[in-house]
Amino acid sequence: MKRITIPAALLSAALLLGLGGCAADDSREIIRIGHNQATTHPTHVALLAFEEFIEERLGDRYDVEVYPSELLGSQTEMVQLAQTGAIHFCVASNSILETFSDNYTLFNLPYLFASSEAYHASMDDPAITGAIFDSTRQAGFEAVAWIDAGARNFYTVDTPVNRPEDLRGLKIRVQQSPTNVEMMRLLGGSATPMGFGEVYTALQSKIIDGAENNEIALTSNGHGDVCKYYSYDMHQMIPDLLIGNCDFLDRLPAGDRAVFEEGFRLVNQVERTAWVSAVEEAKQTAAERQGVQFLYPDTAPFQQACMPLHQQMLDAYPSLAPVYDAIQRHNAEHPSAAGEGGI
Ligand code: GCU
Repeated sequence: MKRITIPAALLSAALLLGLGGCAADDSREIIRIGHNQATTHPTHVALLAFEEFIEERLGDRYDVEVYPSELLGSQTEMVQLAQTGAIHFCVASNSILETFSDNYTLFNLPYLFASSEAYHASMDDPAITGAIFDSTRQAGFEAVAWIDAGARNFYTVDTPVNRPEDLRGLKIRVQQSPTNVEMMRLLGGSATPMGFGEVYTALQSKIIDGAENNEIALTSNGHGDVCKYYSYDMHQMIPDLLIGNCDFLDRLPAGDRAVFEEGFRLVNQVERTAWVSAVEEAKQTAAERQGVQFLYPDTAPFQQACMPLHQQMLDAYPSLAPVYDAIQRHNAEHPSAAGEGGI
């Protein structure tokens, strides 16, 4: 599972010096898209559908290349490459975008969405996502599509987590975002922020006692080879976002831009469909082949511990209150189902 990653600066230099913007034998612009998942992951499947869609319609002008598995660097490095235009697009977890714009803090809140239906309805609602997705334009990129990444739950090497108290003294890897670090503090665990590609080795070498993610991380990233308890506390539903370099998007001719926009919607649709069966498959493989035990704790104590974060966010960023309220309306329409977290 060891990954070899190319430092962003090196890659950026290689792209600028050696690879240029056009294929060697023609004048098509190469559109580079990076992400950190394996080639079997729904994200990759969706981006390949995007590649096919764009090339079928605009193949005389654009050659889309999808780079999986952190080939272009970690997510943070890829975001930096997309900022400068060294690459055109990448997939980033909403979590890490919090450090680029405060507005992204909202979707990182634990127990923000009452159910996966409320989560999907909110993310499909441009009145909720619009201003947030645009808020990194001054940083050089914007979000063009959201990608389902399921619900995040704790999993540990050898400690079943049934109550927040079980997290005490455990070092848990979280994504690099202040909200995630604060969430772990409120839950009583010890947050160890690190990039996704480093988690497997950190688990194996016992630098950390566990992590938190969706079920696919158990199989696709091998975390279930080491962690034997996966506990459905349902603390977050954090979307991944396809982000694009603004200079590139802004210089697209209107007709091409319309095709790209259609392609962005396709990414969302294909990924969401693939996601449902991929999670089922991961769960089955984790239980049967990796010996992972799935636990279903009462989510209420986890939720209670995390709730102060909501008010903290509203106090720090009052301009996000109307968006937060709009999410509550989706929550009221799609309340928590049995077995799901939420408020
Ligand atoms: C999920 C998510 C990734 C993210 C990863 C992480 O797999 O889809 O975008 O990088 O979690 O925990 O870092």
